[in-house]
Amino acid sequence: MMVNRKILTLDEFTIQQMRAFPHATGELSNLLRDLGLAAKRINVEVNKAGLVDILGDAGEINVQGEDVKKLDVYANNQVMGVLKHGISCAGIGSEELDDFIAFDDPVSNNSKYVCMFDPLDGSGNIDVNVSIGTIFSVYRRVTPKGQPVSREDFLQAGINQVAAGYIVYGSSTMLVYATRRGVNGFTLDPSIGEFSLSHPNIQCPEFGKIYSVNHGNFFQYEKPVQDYIQVCQQKTKETGGPYTQRYIGSMVSDLHRNLIKGGIFMYPATKDKPKGKLRLLYECNPFAFIVEVAGGKATNGKVRILDIVPTELHQRSTLFIGSKGMMEELESFLQRENA
Ligand code: AHG
Ligand code: MN
Ligand code: MN
Repeated sequence: MMVNRKILTLDEFTIQQMRAFPHATGELSNLLRDLGLAAKRINVEVNKAGLVDILGDAGEINVQGEDVKKLDVYANNQVMGVLKHGISCAGIGSEELDDFIAFDDPVSNNSKYVCMFDPLDGSGNIDVNVSIGTIFSVYRRVTPKGQPVSREDFLQAGINQVAAGYIVYGSSTMLVYATRRGVNGFTLDPSIGEFSLSHPNIQCPEFGKIYSVNHGNFFQYEKPVQDYIQVCQQKTKETGGPYTQRYIGSMVSDLHRNLIKGGIFMYPATKDKPKGKLRLLYECNPFAFIVEVAGGKATNGKVRILDIVPTELHQRSTLFIGSKGMMEELESFLQRENA
């Protein structure tokens, strides 16, 4: 029989992946499809952010003490909604919520997964038409099925992630997700309203030419970090520098670019934020998982991000992440400086 060759949609791809495992229940495919739906809904609102009264502050402060933009609230409700109404997720944790939510209904209590997310990343960029994103992370629950999920299901080390991904609302909208088997990217095809496989098996180049850091904070960084940044700006035999500096201020966009082109991204400790700014569960862990599956590395400057056992849902971490070769250069440099 003649079968037309065509680009796989996100649903087709996840089902195809599932078919490779005869015992798979399809719950993860369902969950990814639900997240894809939330992404499409958020995308519609992001695209008209300049037109409607959805732009701007919602007038609340989130649990992290930051202004909540209206789109943050909208995105949070969309992701929460699809997961609650789906059949694969037992509970959620979100950057925008004080505490985790156990869905606690008979179907959810028998679901395998919990999901954590940053519904809108880079929200400071909404009103200036710069790329923003959504980040998600999926864990298998550790408490037995049949009961509501509890805190220990959410406070797992990142290494336990089953899948992690992000959506970038950029010049095109892309959903990228990783399982242990690989990282794949899907571009939203507006003509059919489906995410279509455009970037199969993404590998992060071992070396790149880009370093991404907030230079405005330079004088607040510790001396070894300052010294490394200056190494990035120099022509050395070891690094092949100088590197190009690129920093958007939406980590989804910065890390998406570095994942594809190769590079290093840093959010070090500052005097104001001695533990770093980024959230371990909603931002650092999902990206550490994606980048590691793609061949890169992620640390907090001392230990591997994925090995950190969290003690709080909204825990912050410093983050150094990117191409394997560049991360190794950074590590050997920090070790030398710290010695
Ligand atoms: P969010 O919009 O979810 O609060 O995250 C913003 C984060 C991250 O995306 C970005 O890399 C970082 O904040 C930028 O922080 P600075 O402006 O301090 O550099
Ligand atoms: Mn964020
Ligand atoms: Mn956010």
